[in-house]
Amino acid sequence: MEEILEKYKTTKEEDVKVWFKAASVNDFPIDGGACVKYKDKQIAVFNFARLNRWYACQNICPHKMEMVLSRGMIGDHKGIPKVACPLHKKTFSLENGENLNGDMDAIATYPVKIEAENVYIGFSD
Ligand code: FES
Repeated sequence: MEEILEKYKTTKEEDVKVWFKAASVNDFPIDGGACVKYKDKQIAVFNFARLNRWYACQNICPHKMEMVLSRGMIGDHKGIPKVACPLHKKTFSLENGENLNGDMDAIATYPVKIEAENVYIGFSD
């Protein structure tokens, strides 16, 4: 099971080699998320319209290894934008993936950019 997590590595903007065109901005719910596939990865992408920001992270929740984070509720934890897993409410920072209500390992996060109404996610592979 753990090896599934190994393919998800936090990517900093300066390490991006590929900007993957995921979809039109209109394909994502306002203040919600959707899942996109890149190679063998499932990535949760969030249109955090309230903050006028976009975020991307692994879709798999490390708690029970379920592909569910894109369906999580987004919100705010002491000023940090977060997603709460829809299953058992483990909560992760959308900025750096940190588990905000426990001591689980951080989830992987990816940079997002918007160009000409399209959403691009940055990967290093
Ligand atoms: S599977 Fe996500 S919190 Fe349990």
